Amino acid sequence: MKVRITQLSSFLILILLLQSACSSKKQVEHKLTLQEVFTGKFYIGTALNANQIFGKDTAAVKVVKKQFNAIVAENCMKSESVQPKEGQFDFSLADKFVEFGERNNMYVTGHTLIWHSQVPGWFFIDEKGNDVSRNVLIERMKNHITTVVGRYKGRIKGWDVVNEAILDDGSWRKSKFYEIIGEDFVRLAFEFAHEADPKAELYYNDYSMANSGKREGVIAMVKKLQEQDVRIDGIGMQGHLGLNYPEINEFEKSIESFAALDVKVMITELDITLLPMPRQNVGADVSASFEYQQEMNPYAEELPDSVNYVFEKRYLDFFKLFLKHQEKISRVTLWGVNDAQSWRNDWPMYGRTDYSLLFDRNNQPKPVVQKIIKEVTSLTKNS
Ligand code: GLA
Repeated sequence: MKVRITQLSSFLILILLLQSACSSKKQVEHKLTLQEVFTGKFYIGTALNANQIFGKDTAAVKVVKKQFNAIVAENCMKSESVQPKEGQFDFSLADKFVEFGERNNMYVTGHTLIWHSQVPGWFFIDEKGNDVSRNVLIERMKNHITTVVGRYKGRIKGWDVVNEAILDDGSWRKSKFYEIIGEDFVRLAFEFAHEADPKAELYYNDYSMANSGKREGVIAMVKKLQEQDVRIDGIGMQGHLGLNYPEINEFEKSIESFAALDVKVMITELDITLLPMPRQNVGADVSASFEYQQEMNPYAEELPDSVNYVFEKRYLDFFKLFLKHQEKISRVTLWGVNDAQSWRNDWPMYGRTDYSLLFDRNNQPKPVVQKIIKEVTSLTKNS
């Protein structure tokens, strides 16, 4: 009897050992994801296009659900999409986008309410084609913001209220909003958004934010809003980067100076182009456009290792910077899921082959993804 009991317990111990060996093997096999490692630090997000929102691009959707916990609409919430004609709103895609975020428990950002670009022509003119009066434009802004923000009240957690109002030298962009209303259009936009959803966070978003002129211009604008008691919760630094611009220490200065205003800092449209720029200082001005030149498309066939090396280092350097300032940064959002989808292939020159994102044209994570993950886990271990 005693022998039998000993045999039985040895058998049980063996089973337990085998079980634990299997589960630790599983742990080793499970590759950590971006959202897993960044939880507790900042949201890690991506922009979604129409095919992803409709669920047609199933491979990309899989990546989104697995890797990211925040989304923003690449195009479907811009004014030309939601209000193509005055008073005729089209929320078909925007509704699906918000539902996608809710179904997958993601932080949903609305992008963007007031922007001089991708805005329908009718917004600024009357039936004769003349500029509308200040009052009419304010009324149109109010109606647009109230309708869009109101529709998603309590569901969209944060809004890019105004996009790109300041130029690189810190002066006001001479957009129609500015020309007709004056700089007050920014304050009004934030106030209308706040009235429509008092709980939503409200952001200002712009590119080339590492540029000292723009940095100072944005700071002055935000300070003025704060003095006027206008709600502003965050500043979005778009983060359309190149291999050698901007200087990372200038980018860091902007993170620090924006955070010093007591607002959240977000990296909202991160990508790194590997392609040459036809002209310096194009920033991310979507209206810039150059004729195709073969020599400006050097990696159409493949990406040389030497360039990929610089690309990886650049991503790692920026993620190290974001981690260093994780207390100040609430979200880092990539501008797209994979290289095939990125606007970088077509801007500012149509038809090029760029490699600016973290997932390749087959939705596979690039080696840099694991390197970023390793960077976060080693930091967490050492802290
Ligand atoms: C700007 C806008 C984005 C997008 C990019 C290019 O950064 O904020 O909505 O249009 O340009 O895709």
